[in-house]
Amino acid sequence: MRQPAELTPVPAITATASFQQLQAHSTAMREAQLRQLFAANPQRFAQMTVDAAGLLLDYSKNRLDATTMSLLMDLARERGVEAQREAMFTGEKINLTEHRAVLHTALRAPRGSKLVVDGQDIDADVQDVLQRVKAFTDKVRNGSWVGYTGKPISDVVNIGIGGSDLGPKMACLALRSYANPNLEMHFVSNVDGHDMEATLSKVDPETTLFIVASKTFVTAETMLNANTARAWFLLEGEEKDLAKHFVAVSTNAAAIVDFGIDPENMFPFWDWVGGRYSVWSSIGLSVALAVGFEYFSDFLAGAHAMDQHFRSAPLEQNMPVVLAMLGFWNRQFLDCSSVSIAPYHQDLSRFPAYLQQLDMESNGKRVTKDGKAVDVPTGPVIWGECGTNAQHAYFQLLHQGTDVTPIDFIAALRATHDLPGHHDALLANCFAQSEAFMTGKTGDEVRLDLQAQGLPSDEIEALVPHKTFPGNRPSNTIVMDQLTPATLGALIALYEHKTFVQGVLWNVNSFDQWGVELGKVLAKKIQGELSGQPEPEKHDSSTNGLIALARAAKSA
Ligand code: F6P
Repeated sequence: MRQPAELTPVPAITATASFQQLQAHSTAMREAQLRQLFAANPQRFAQMTVDAAGLLLDYSKNRLDATTMSLLMDLARERGVEAQREAMFTGEKINLTEHRAVLHTALRAPRGSKLVVDGQDIDADVQDVLQRVKAFTDKVRNGSWVGYTGKPISDVVNIGIGGSDLGPKMACLALRSYANPNLEMHFVSNVDGHDMEATLSKVDPETTLFIVASKTFVTAETMLNANTARAWFLLEGEEKDLAKHFVAVSTNAAAIVDFGIDPENMFPFWDWVGGRYSVWSSIGLSVALAVGFEYFSDFLAGAHAMDQHFRSAPLEQNMPVVLAMLGFWNRQFLDCSSVSIAPYHQDLSRFPAYLQQLDMESNGKRVTKDGKAVDVPTGPVIWGECGTNAQHAYFQLLHQGTDVTPIDFIAALRATHDLPGHHDALLANCFAQSEAFMTGKTGDEVRLDLQAQGLPSDEIEALVPHKTFPGNRPSNTIVMDQLTPATLGALIALYEHKTFVQGVLWNVNSFDQWGVELGKVLAKKIQGELSGQPEPEKHDSSTNGLIALARAAKSA
């Protein structure tokens, strides 16, 4: 019997030959200056760009050279990236702690891809659900699906959290230029009633469709929000009308029926789709409703194009592998504990938040697949905001602070609007920032500037340290022609595979998330204590004190 690749003992990463070579090489590279690397090699941009699926990655502004890249690729090979990649695509149960295959790639494979896992014809299942999504979204979009008073749907409220919210919300916003203007999309995720209240105040029960989106259909926040929406709807409508206004997306058919949703209005998916990898499944129902099934299919096709590239391109030219290895280099050898994502595209404003879950829930791990402590730092903190806004908020720290934070700049060469002047200004800022992070500004350059302004020399000397930029700060730039359903699909898949490759390097299970459980259990206990019965249990003095304050506020 074929042994799953990940059960083969994997040595600690620090024990591998290529890691040790990289470590030795990094001593010299830590001192390397990007300005000099560019000056010494006019071909640096040409040599350090990769193309795939409508995206171009320019990684030339990283503190590395051809030897670094070659050693990084050796490491990728030594860690078994190619074999692990095949194990994922072919449905091996690489999510060991949950005994599950990891097949989000199958969700975007074209009809006819032959994949059978545990006797299940994956392609047939996927195509069947896609057809149901098409039929349903066509009806809602063309107005033939009507609410209980016969009016077409004008508002869709997706109720979900984590992967059941972040992906659809990010994609709906990113593809807003492709969306049906007559259908307004809303997303309620937080258990904080302010979230639901703000949305309910904007919609009308006669014309609102609720999508209850939850892989497990037991997530406390989503269930409470779904019950609140149901109760709100029943203030006007009747039980028999619910079927026209509530649909569900889940792997848990029994729980959907218990909730009272018509099984006809259920869009299933499967346990081999991780929550944070689920936007391609029926969790993407809100995206398909917003942009229509054809554009949704383009979105899947864009991701599939990146899948094919990832599965077949040589590692040196493989965009997700290159991006992953750069990230590993910066994390491991340049001590960068966070990565900032800077989309220079307002429609990608939720992309950093989406990547936070994708990367940090996947690789925020401290033990290897066989339960041993990982002997190097793992996933960095991911954060960010759109440019140019970010420039006027925290870029100060990135330019002159004491930590070095690599940045991924993301931009579209052409806009999807036609307002004059804006796009050149946007792109100019994007390219200027990566140039500034790379070159910095030396004390002598500052001095010359100030002398040209005619400042007295004592004032110049006082200002020089403040106006000097160290530079030499690494960044990637990812560009696409336009932000379209296909390029968005490719962009998300790029980061999914990057995350996967880094998980392979660290030998962690990128597909479980046990770290979210403890807080859920404690919250349930404290929720009971807040509602008054039984008497609060003894926690630590801080938690006891906070519970007492909340109880007192309730009875005030
Ligand atoms: O608590 C974390 C998590 O399990 C995520 O992994 C998931 O995306 C989210 O909660 C929502 O889960 P569900 O789709 O099952 O409601």
